[in-house]
Amino acid sequence: MDTKPILREKLRDATRASHRRVDHHEVMACLVRGPITAELYARSLSALYALHAPLEDVFSAHLGGDDFVPARRSLDLAHDLEVLGHDAAKVAPVWNGRRPDGLAAYVGMRYVIEGSALGGAMIAPQLIRRLPPEALDACRFFTFQMEGQQWPRFWRLVDGLGPIDVHQACDAAVGLFTEIEDLWAAFRQR
Ligand code: HEM
Repeated sequence: MDTKPILREKLRDATRASHRRVDHHEVMACLVRGPITAELYARSLSALYALHAPLEDVFSAHLGGDDFVPARRSLDLAHDLEVLGHDAAKVAPVWNGRRPDGLAAYVGMRYVIEGSALGGAMIAPQLIRRLPPEALDACRFFTFQMEGQQWPRFWRLVDGLGPIDVHQACDAAVGLFTEIEDLWAAFRQR
């Protein structure tokens, strides 16, 4: 039996509550509703950079192989921050959570990051309408989202792997969401 559709469903169910907390988090909420200034936007981009940049490194090192190297979305974040006058290299703190200790954990954690691009497609139009004019050149991360190709590609790659322990994958995905909440506490309005 192919367990991959079940895996996808279980991951979605296991992370539903965490996803809701994260997408309503202060640093995300301003992207979709209410007033947003260039400074608030830069804070949200920094919070995303703090997550994506170190995880991309961990993911690339974990499995290797050209096929499985994730898109480097942190480069777009660094670009957008630079347009807003911020240096991505100075973003702190950055994610330093639990590394994947096997294939199942790796897939669970990658699921969280690959899935996050799906929300980006929904965020982009609402964000662009509300951003101040000086921030409109800083939208590469949200407007160059490759979710149309990356998400099915991710699942094709997962399909090519051996059996994945569903519980371990779900634990790792939920664990990463919890670490994101902890990390982003540092990016609340200071
Ligand atoms: C304002 C912020 C966010 C909004 C509005 C949002 C919204 C959404 C939406 C609408 C989907 C479903 C898209 C579809 O099925 O086509 C989705 C999926 C997903 N998002 Fe978010 N999201 C946000 C932030 C995040 C963040 C920060 C993460 C993780 C770092 C994340 C992780 C995921 C995951 C893993 C899925 C896939 C769920 C599945 O299995 O179908 N999202 N999001």
